[in-house]
Amino acid sequence: MFYQKVLKPILFKFDPEKVHNLIVFLGPFLGKSFVLRKLVALFYKYKGRDISKTIDGLTYRTPFILSAGFDYNGKLLNILPEISFGGVEVGSITARACLGNKKPRLTRLPKSQSIIVNKGLCNDGVDEIIKRLKNYKRRNDFVIGISIARTNDEKASAVEEGVLDYFYSFKRLNEEDVGDYYTLNISCPNSFTGGTFTNPALLSLLLSKISSIKCHKPIYIKMPINLEWPEFDNLLKIIEKFENIKGVVIGNLNKDYNSLDFKIEVPKKFGGGLSGKPCFEISNELIKKTKVTYGNRFTIIGCGGVFSSKDMISKFEAGSDLVALITGMIYNGPGLIKELSNHYATSHEY
Ligand SMILES: Cc1cc2nc3c(=O)[nH]c(=O)nc-3n(C[C@H](O)[C@H](O)[C@H](O)COP(=O)(O)O)c2cc1C
Repeated sequence: MFYQKVLKPILFKFDPEKVHNLIVFLGPFLGKSFVLRKLVALFYKYKGRDISKTIDGLTYRTPFILSAGFDYNGKLLNILPEISFGGVEVGSITARACLGNKKPRLTRLPKSQSIIVNKGLCNDGVDEIIKRLKNYKRRNDFVIGISIARTNDEKASAVEEGVLDYFYSFKRLNEEDVGDYYTLNISCPNSFTGGTFTNPALLSLLLSKISSIKCHKPIYIKMPINLEWPEFDNLLKIIEKFENIKGVVIGNLNKDYNSLDFKIEVPKKFGGGLSGKPCFEISNELIKKTKVTYGNRFTIIGCGGVFSSKDMISKFEAGSDLVALITGMIYNGPGLIKELSNHYATSHEY
């Protein structure tokens, strides 16, 4: 209520990226101080019965993950467990640091409960992020996934260079033993090269190279959601062949502006993918079809448009093992994750 009635009306008066930067600036302060952490936990930490879930050998205190794109540089790891997240996907990170696309690159669409995202993978680069994460004191109830994307510049734009770019980040993270799981983001709609590796033959090339490194941690693929089922399934058929790839995140941003409830909100000049509500139904349908077709072959991290407990239940009923979100938290506040956890605890097992 405090967020909805007081904080959000103030925050939503400011540019979304400035608000995001403020949170990423304040988060580490809150996370560092024992007292402030406990204060945050008092309001926002789930304290009910054990709802932990173990997936691919990793135990999540709650089955909710902060999706890739909020904690690009791994700075919020100490505070996220206090607002009931069971894990985070840091990134997407890239081999070289990226400044991102031209600003403004985030636009709220409040009536449509969405954000136009055109960040362009703005992050510090894998080596800098490894240094930061090495200083993090591990806790055994919070899972750190790392989302790897291709550097958003011309140098990495050819296929071969692109493969080597992913490979570099993956190799470095493995060498340094940083991160509990890895997600290959093949579907970033707002980078220089778009979704090159959403082509089955090229995806196969990328996964063959990645598989040349022995990695005992789970690897997932972040899927595009603007593909018809046969095309989506063609990607799954490729992924299925690689035993080391444990699952899929379904899915990324929505590129189809026709899915907006209120197109009138879209500014005249815009570019990028849509988060939030326009992702909800499309991702649910793809999750369902993946589950029906592949049974338990893939771990499914369901993502897109979770704003309420009802939405969360739909994601699990569709076949998700874990649920990831960002936009719901931005619109409904950090209390959302505790609310989801409480509801999950009282509903039947998923
Ligand atoms: C500000 C913002 C930045 C994002 N950046 C990334 C990214 O770097 N990598 C990625 O895989 N997904 C990124 N996403 C997509 C989200 O991870 C998620 O797939 C999508 O927003 C749907 O979930 P939501 O409706 O809960 O936000 C971003 C989303 C937002 C809102």
